Amino acid sequence: MATSRCSHISRSLSYYITTPIFYVNSAPHIGHVYSFLLADALNRFQRLKLGHDQTIFSTGLDEHGIKIQTAAASVNTDCRQFCDRNAQKFKDLFAKYDTTLTNFVRTSDDDHVEAVLSVWRTLMDKGYIHRKEYCGWYCTNDETFIPDSQVQEIEINGEQVHQDASQNTVHWSSEINYMFNFGHFKQDILDWLKRERPVTPVRFNDEAIAFLDRMGDDISISRPLERLNWGIRVPNDSSQTIYVWLDALINYLTVAGYPCALHNLKRWPIDCQILGKDILKFHALYWPAFLIALDLSLPRKLICHSHWLVDSKKISKSRGNVIDPLEENRHLTREGLRYFLLRNGTPHSDTNYDRTQAFNRVNSELANTYGCLMSRCCSDVINPNHEIPQHLSDRCAGDIIRLKERLKDCKVVCEQSFEDGNFYKGLEEIMSVLRDNHNLYEQAQPWKLVKELKSNPDNLMVHNDIQAITFEVLRVCSILLQPVIPGIAGAALDSLEAHDRFWTDADVKLEQSSRWKSSCPRKLASLRKPVFLRLKAQD
Ligand code: MSP
Repeated sequence: MATSRCSHISRSLSYYITTPIFYVNSAPHIGHVYSFLLADALNRFQRLKLGHDQTIFSTGLDEHGIKIQTAAASVNTDCRQFCDRNAQKFKDLFAKYDTTLTNFVRTSDDDHVEAVLSVWRTLMDKGYIHRKEYCGWYCTNDETFIPDSQVQEIEINGEQVHQDASQNTVHWSSEINYMFNFGHFKQDILDWLKRERPVTPVRFNDEAIAFLDRMGDDISISRPLERLNWGIRVPNDSSQTIYVWLDALINYLTVAGYPCALHNLKRWPIDCQILGKDILKFHALYWPAFLIALDLSLPRKLICHSHWLVDSKKISKSRGNVIDPLEENRHLTREGLRYFLLRNGTPHSDTNYDRTQAFNRVNSELANTYGCLMSRCCSDVINPNHEIPQHLSDRCAGDIIRLKERLKDCKVVCEQSFEDGNFYKGLEEIMSVLRDNHNLYEQAQPWKLVKELKSNPDNLMVHNDIQAITFEVLRVCSILLQPVIPGIAGAALDSLEAHDRFWTDADVKLEQSSRWKSSCPRKLASLRKPVFLRLKAQD
């Protein structure tokens, strides 16, 4: 039966990227949208490089566990109904961004439950699971036992409380749990982290190694039914429910078609996993241990990102500083929001979310720098015949040639930085090239040259050269911008009649030629509306 579920395998799937699956107990906020859009940008980037769209991009919802059980109880709602209602909010929001998403997992889905049960049975058969009375500090927020070494006792309002390193309150707890023999895999994980350095930025790889050193040998992978009933029952022991993190991590296998013969997984190993820094331990330590135990290869890359803050504070419902993405879409447009998140978000450190800053960034870079260059070079005052010159003149030199070289480097910078999710670096480079192009315009003043093209051959040449480089800059930058602002960049490429849009097409093609004057210019597609309309302040 298991094999037949995978019989529709597409062998040509060439890339598999995942986001974490989101807790369904609260409404999606800007941080969740960032994780999701970062993955979409990476998937788009890979598709451009591959030259086809046979990739998997998965996201989904983490629906089981005490957090959800408690949230549903607090509004007197049955867990399933509660999840259905909130799941729709995530689905509706994600659908608004017109992304390349291919799979959406809900951990309450039947195929996922089947995958989790199958993983459990396999781990049991291989002898990696045992039953044990477990005592320790339990953190309800993270639904996990915390090692003694990471718990400290402090006084709050005259009361002694225990907290973990993230200041979550922990309680001493004793119960029967099934345990996974994590210790057996520690050395393999350490070797992997040291040899492959799979986690980027590297500071998070180092953090994972440091964390591994503090890990005990057993991981608790079940909870007694009386503590947790909203979840998947342990096979052959209905008094226990499977621990939510084991359940959740398996979603990445569900998408690949597990359970099935391992060589029949749709695409394995996973090429890239996006995760926030708060869930590094689960993805860089627990997950690889489960995979090694299942004889499966480890993900090629984990991109761990820092968090969005508001007024330098963690976003949280209780602080009341949650930013609603729908509201931000309204102020910034959806692509404007995408642009700001990927332009200002830096995986290595936290970033403040500030609407005024976002508004200014989007207007200054998308409207003034990119959009304005596009309208200028197509405008009647500079380009009365609506033409795109095909060559630089053989005498072209100086700033124009320097800009051409910068454009070549820009593609290299984008490629290197996009690969690791550092979109901010590539975007900075693109904007810098576009700004240089504006400066060139200011120096050469093509709107003046155009008035004396016939009478002054030098004017004709400079005008040709400046227009030729500007169109090439816009063509190349638009291709490079596609992963981040697919709609805007796509419309610009339409106007430029640039139909070849894969990553290799962003190589600079413009050459110098002594026949520049006789080479037939291409006609510009009619561009009558700006690629990006300046944002106006809303109420
Ligand atoms: N359900 C778990 C993940 C299980 S994956 C097998 C979970 N869910 S979550 O909803 O709390 O978080 C989902 C992702 O959103 C995490 O990567 C988390 O880091 C990210 N973010 C949550 N708040 C964030 C910010 N303020 N900023 C950026 N990302 C944030 O953890």
